[in-house]
Amino acid sequence: MTSAPSAAQTGEGGPPAGSFPDHVAIIMDGNGRWAKSRNLPRAVGHERGVEALRRTVEAAQDVGLKNLTVYSFSTENWRRPVSEVNALFGLLKAYVKRDLDRLAREGVRVRILGTRKGLPDDIRELVDRAEARTEANSKFNLCIAFNYGGREEIVRAVQKAAKSLSDGSLNPDTLDEESFEQFLDTSEVPDPDIVIRTSGEYRLSNFLIWQAAYAELVFMDVLWPDFGKEHLIEAIETFQKRERRFGGLASGAA
Ligand code: FPP
Repeated sequence: MTSAPSAAQTGEGGPPAGSFPDHVAIIMDGNGRWAKSRNLPRAVGHERGVEALRRTVEAAQDVGLKNLTVYSFSTENWRRPVSEVNALFGLLKAYVKRDLDRLAREGVRVRILGTRKGLPDDIRELVDRAEARTEANSKFNLCIAFNYGGREEIVRAVQKAAKSLSDGSLNPDTLDEESFEQFLDTSEVPDPDIVIRTSGEYRLSNFLIWQAAYAELVFMDVLWPDFGKEHLIEAIETFQKRERRFGGLASGAA
């Protein structure tokens, strides 16, 4: 869903620097290096990554964010050794089993972004259950990108749009960016204002490539298992110092 006002709507740039973000998205990177530097198996790094995720979900609610999206398994991560893929599946299961009741009580709506294709049946059932159980919640959106790739999401959206075109429910002449977004996995979620990537890497890695078109990118050196509330606040403060123009002019430049 597009949250940024157009330049035409604002007359010049987008919202002034200093406004609070609606949506923070995070590429949780560096679990492997965290483990390696301690001579621990990579799976331990991912386990600590889940703890960092728990801390971050809590911190996000504390600071007043409404939407948080995290990248926890990409369509490209299938290239990793089977043991690591299984460890990540196991961690998702454990996270949902352990945290779902609490998240549901706290008013969190859980969405799993990505394709269900290729996921084992038990994972598929679990993610469907997590979504159904929290469907009526609206206090906070937690989107977990799992088996997710931005290009794959767009292709799936095009397939859905093509079906609607062929059954007549979508008019090709009125199809535009806004109406196309209903076919994306994030259809009811605003675009991210900030994409954070930890571990000192500077890439989007196929994460929210449609939705992040105008996001502020914040790259941080911290490895994901060490991420905490102070890093989230630092990223938000960095965002607040930037001026977003959405293709318009800097305020006062006209
Ligand atoms: C990148 O670190 C991280 C991942 C590929 C997985 C992220 C997963 C978690 C934080 C835990 C799982 C959470 C859920 C809910 C399943 P990396 O392994 O690429 O680290 P490296 O670049 O240092 O090797």
